[in-house]
Amino acid sequence: MVAAARAAVVCGLGTHLPPRVVTNAELAREVDTSDEWIRSRTGIGRRHIAENGTATSDLAVEAGQRALKSASASGSAVAVDAVIVATTTPDHPCPATAPAVAARLGLGTVPAFDVGAVCTGFLYGLAAGGGLIAAGTAHGVLVIGAETYSSILDPADRSTRAIFGDGAGAVVLRAGEPDEPGALGPLVLGSDGTGSDLIRVPSGGSRDPVRPGHADRADPYFRMAGSKVFRNAVERMAEASQEAATRAGWTLQDIDVFVVHQANLRIMNAVADQMRLPRSRFPVHLDRVGNTAAASIPLALADAVTTGALRPGQRTALAAFGGGLTWGAATLTWPDITPV
Ligand code: UT7
Repeated sequence: MVAAARAAVVCGLGTHLPPRVVTNAELAREVDTSDEWIRSRTGIGRRHIAENGTATSDLAVEAGQRALKSASASGSAVAVDAVIVATTTPDHPCPATAPAVAARLGLGTVPAFDVGAVCTGFLYGLAAGGGLIAAGTAHGVLVIGAETYSSILDPADRSTRAIFGDGAGAVVLRAGEPDEPGALGPLVLGSDGTGSDLIRVPSGGSRDPVRPGHADRADPYFRMAGSKVFRNAVERMAEASQEAATRAGWTLQDIDVFVVHQANLRIMNAVADQMRLPRSRFPVHLDRVGNTAAASIPLALADAVTTGALRPGQRTALAAFGGGLTWGAATLTWPDITPV
């Protein structure tokens, strides 16, 4: 007899933001921009920026610890036996960041690996974690989205500096039943590599290694063709959300709350408008943290729970879009957990 696939159930949520806050006005003293431009074009008012010397793993460990605390506080005695870190900004090109995070969290010799799907990384991480649980490889998985984008931004690039911020968020997944609150519904994921040049760090990989003596020709910074990405992001997040809803047996109208990647308030509003849904169903966090890429969805989830915008029992959709190009969406009924 074949055992029924086990569902992955969200049972803990933790976040961490580096303490230093940079307002739009402070940014405007360094690059040619203004609070008015940034607010009206993106909805962002400030962001958190890690101090020099703080790496992605430092933020990931804090968020991971808090997610584990949140899981114990919600009554889930989960033995975490796998760690996934979704990040665009690993501590080093090699090795992955996740094994160091697992070790620092005292989780021993568990499987640990990174997922690179840029701003969609957290959803790809949830899919990978859910897969480990369904296969019986793991019983409890810590999925962390963590970024120090400030380490790859060009100090002179006003468009990326206005948007991105640093931070980390994590969930604990445990094996459970598909009809429990917190159980992830079927995830929808996609990619279109023909758009891989729209978001990239040109140098520092095998295509253009940075070597001593060639450093002056290298471009180690994050580059984004903002307006092309904007149009793609709206289409893909709307389509993926619709498909995830259909696979869950829900209509879009049935969904109470859409926690979507906090890229730009105009993108979020356009997604709501395209799906003919009230914008009020899309909680906003980016006004205080900017676009935190792979950390954005867990940070936005925790904020929405804290503000009361997301409550236990509500039908919830997650959606993201990012470099690759990549996108994804997921559904779940929000569980009764307290973010730490
Ligand atoms: O996280 C996942 C992937 N990323 C995204 O989803 C981000 C998607 N893109 C965006 O959010 C927007 O495209 C941006 C916020 C990056 C830019 O906004 P936009 O309305 O698309 O502006 P644009 O790139 O078309 O640029 C319009 C103008 C340009 O000036 P010119 O060439 O018309 O004179 C830019 O140089 O706005 C200028 N600009 C700025 N001006 C003041 C760009 N950034 C700034 C800035 N302050 N910070």
